[in-house]
Amino acid sequence: MRITLTRPDDWHLHLRDGAAMRAVLPDTARRFGRAIVMPNLKPPVRTVAEAAAYRDRILAAVPEGLAFEALMTLYLTDNTSAQEVAKARSSGFVHAVKYYPAGATTNADFGVTAVEKAWPAIAAMEEQGLPLLVHGESTDPGVDVFDREAVFIDRVLVPLLDRFPRLKLVLEHITTRQGIDFVRAMPANVAGTLTAHHLLYNRNAMFKGGIRPHYYCLPVLKRESHRQALLEAAVSVDAKFFLGTDSAPHAQSAKECACGCAGIYTAHAGIELYAEAFESAGALDRLEAFASFHGPDFYGLPRNTTRVTLVREDWTPPDALDFGDGQRLVPLRAGEAIPWRLAH
Ligand code: NCD
Ligand code: ZN
Repeated sequence: MRITLTRPDDWHLHLRDGAAMRAVLPDTARRFGRAIVMPNLKPPVRTVAEAAAYRDRILAAVPEGLAFEALMTLYLTDNTSAQEVAKARSSGFVHAVKYYPAGATTNADFGVTAVEKAWPAIAAMEEQGLPLLVHGESTDPGVDVFDREAVFIDRVLVPLLDRFPRLKLVLEHITTRQGIDFVRAMPANVAGTLTAHHLLYNRNAMFKGGIRPHYYCLPVLKRESHRQALLEAAVSVDAKFFLGTDSAPHAQSAKECACGCAGIYTAHAGIELYAEAFESAGALDRLEAFASFHGPDFYGLPRNTTRVTLVREDWTPPDALDFGDGQRLVPLRAGEAIPWRLAH
C-alpha cells in the first residue's frame, strides 16, 4: 500500500545550530516543504537581524536538490519591543514570535517572567497579525508536572485572550484534553499543534521496564485518556489543529545521564510517525488536511504544490545517528520498526 499527499510542513521544529543543525536538517528537508524554526538557541534568537543570520546558516545547509524553506521565529522576552515586532512582520521571513515562560523548558532562561511585561509586544502582534506561539506550561513549582498545561491555560491564556481577543495564537504541542477543549472553544484565531509522539505514546512509555530518557520531553507525555483526545482532534479535520513535530534533538550523553534534557528526536520519521498514528485511528485519508493544509491556511501562506509518497513497509531506525562534532543522537524508535517509509 502507498499514499501520496501534498508535501507537508512542520509548524514546530528545533534545528539547533552549527554541526548539530547540519546533521539533522536533511531529515526534515527531505520530508517537509517548510518548517517553523524555534528560536531557543543559546543565546536565543531575539531580533530580526539574528533571525536573518540564523536563516542564512540553515539555508546554506540544505542538501542540494531539496527545496526547503525556513520560517523563522523570534524569542519573546520581557524586553521585546513593538518596533521589533513591526520589523519582524515586514521582514517577510519571520513568521511568528515564541513565548516560553521563563524556565519552562530547554533554553528558556531568557523567557517571559510575567506576561504583563510582554504586553506591548503582544499588542503589536495582535495589531499586525503576527502569530504568538505558546509553550503552554505553568512554571509555578507548586503545580504538579502533569497539570502544568491545564493550569497555564486557566491562569495565563484565558486572561491573555480576553485582553487581546484578535491575537493569532498557537498553543504548541498540546498534550491534554483541556488543551484541545480550550482551542476548540476559541474563535478561528486560536489554533494548536500536535506532535507525533504525543499521538502515539502515553506516559507509561517513560517507565516501561525502567526509566526511559528518550521518551522524556516537555510538555511531558500524559495519561492514555489525554492521548485519545489528541488523536481524536488530529483526525477530526478541524482546521484549528495541525502538524508540529517538536523534534528536539539532544546529544545521547545529554539524555542518558543523572539529569537528562527534555526533547525527543522525530525528524528522521517526521511524517511517517503521523501516518502510523492516523492509520491506528482508521483515518489515513485525513492525514493530508492535518499535515499539509491547515498549517499554511492558518499562517496565511500558500499550500505546497509538490507531493510526497509513503509506502506501508517496515524499516528500523539505527540505534544512533550522527549529531556532529563526534556526538550521537538517539532517534525515536531506535532499533524498533516503523511501519511507514518515505518513498524516494
Ligand atoms: C525542546 C528543546 O529541547 O528545545 N524540548 C522539548 O522537550 N520539547 C523545548 C520545548 O519545545 O519545550
Ligand atoms: Zn519545542
